[in-house]
Amino acid sequence: MATEADRVLIFDTTLRDGEQSPGCSMTQPEKLRVARALADLGVDVIEAGFPAASRGDWEAVHAVAQEVQGPVIAALARCTRADIEAAARALQPAPRRRLHVFLATSAIHRQYKLNMAQDEIVRAAVEAVKIAREFCDDVEFSPEDASRTELDFLARVVGAVIEAGATTVNIPDTVGYTVPDEFGELFRYLRQNVPGIDKVRLSVHCHDDLGMAVANSLTAVVAGARQIECTINGIGERAGNCSLEEVVMAMATRSQFFNLRTGIQTNRLYPVSRLLSNITGQPIPRNKAVIGENAFAHESGIHQHGMLKNAQTYEIMRPEDVGLSRSNLVLGKHSGRHAFRERVQELGFELDELELNRVFEEFKALADRKKELFDGDIEALVLRAEGSAHGPWSLGALEVSSQLGASATATVRLQHADGRTPTGKASGDGPVDAAYKAIEQATGLVVKVRKFEVHAVTVGEDAQGETVVYVDYNGRSYRGSSVSTDIIEASCKALLEVINRIEQSQQGGARLAAREATPAAAAKSAVKH
Ligand code: KIV
Ligand code: ZN
Repeated sequence: MATEADRVLIFDTTLRDGEQSPGCSMTQPEKLRVARALADLGVDVIEAGFPAASRGDWEAVHAVAQEVQGPVIAALARCTRADIEAAARALQPAPRRRLHVFLATSAIHRQYKLNMAQDEIVRAAVEAVKIAREFCDDVEFSPEDASRTELDFLARVVGAVIEAGATTVNIPDTVGYTVPDEFGELFRYLRQNVPGIDKVRLSVHCHDDLGMAVANSLTAVVAGARQIECTINGIGERAGNCSLEEVVMAMATRSQFFNLRTGIQTNRLYPVSRLLSNITGQPIPRNKAVIGENAFAHESGIHQHGMLKNAQTYEIMRPEDVGLSRSNLVLGKHSGRHAFRERVQELGFELDELELNRVFEEFKALADRKKELFDGDIEALVLRAEGSAHGPWSLGALEVSSQLGASATATVRLQHADGRTPTGKASGDGPVDAAYKAIEQATGLVVKVRKFEVHAVTVGEDAQGETVVYVDYNGRSYRGSSVSTDIIEASCKALLEVINRIEQSQQGGARLAAREATPAAAAKSAVKH
């Protein structure tokens, strides 16, 4: 019979530890989309950000706290009153909230980063937990770099923060240095040597520098941890964090070994993973465990033969358990709305009637250009329809010509929401370069393209190409993406998504300035970040 003692909480830090890694930054609307998807997935805690880090972070945490129901919303803070107050204010609207304070404890961090002696670390940690408890009953403490901290000192810090009122103690392997047996021992040592440890929830937070974040997290739960901190697709600092989908499916697939359960709706894992990949523009490696494209593909004849006789010969999980359909059914231009709706639902997306109609129209248009539509095509349509930065600019017409050995030329006609339809014409080093110059001419916005990627969404010569473009503008980085069977069109739309984001953020800045010009509003937003 399942008991509370068997329940492992899933603490998702995609929006904090994940988002702070290079290439994974998200806008506030994107963070909200991810947070809602995490709530639907059934995570217990969403760490929404680090409010003291920047105004944008503060506002994103605040928005998640305001709008996302279900999970506990957590925010990270250093051991200072200013950080803790900023986090507490950002979390204010959340019905269930947690303050997560951290301080490094290892000798190397004490000496080189903090220049603090052991006693000072204990005092600062205790003081911070007490301050956090003034704002919130749910307080988590993390001794950063715990796995490289002297065991007796770690036990002293953990004991002191428990006495000060911490309700969860998280043990991070900050630099991904530990190995399973050693980490299991660390948890057993703490459980045997820290008075009061049974009163709090023990948590684990592993990084993947040596590829052992999932294994180390599982060892920690075997040794008594009852919360795992992890991220979708394992994104995070350097090599990333413990991957949520892997650690959850390990416990689900080997339930007789672990005898533990989580609240995760595993059939939502694949859609959430795709959503995040689409938002961050970070493709999922084909061979990634659980949610990679090849995770359930069987190429060799011997394997295929076994699979046909009994799927369990070569499969330890069913694709549908993680939200992938087995069939990868092919749809085409004769497929009706009903079949399309079913496919969208099987892929784990919930669209209302209006959204479904919109995506169905796009599906029909695509089916006219492309013989067979695979799951990847449908996913791309849905994700784009849900997430693209709409307006004000859109592509009205595009004409390109290129010749071997000569420069390419492009003409574009754009549409702006205010009614303008400017055109641009330019030549460049290849059709994409020419089209980008023409767009810059038409919009009057000159950007610096830092990175440009194209990859196929599905297989076949008529596969759709996904273009992701990274742009620097006025000291800020932007990312845009688009999908089409025509990669020049996808490239232009990706750049227009960036230009739309730039224009929206300029308007947002102007709105903010106007809002803060009123004394009442200025007083209200005078939060220390
Ligand atoms: O890796 C780490 O130590 C962290 C802490 C802030 C929990 O992310
Ligand atoms: Zn971390």
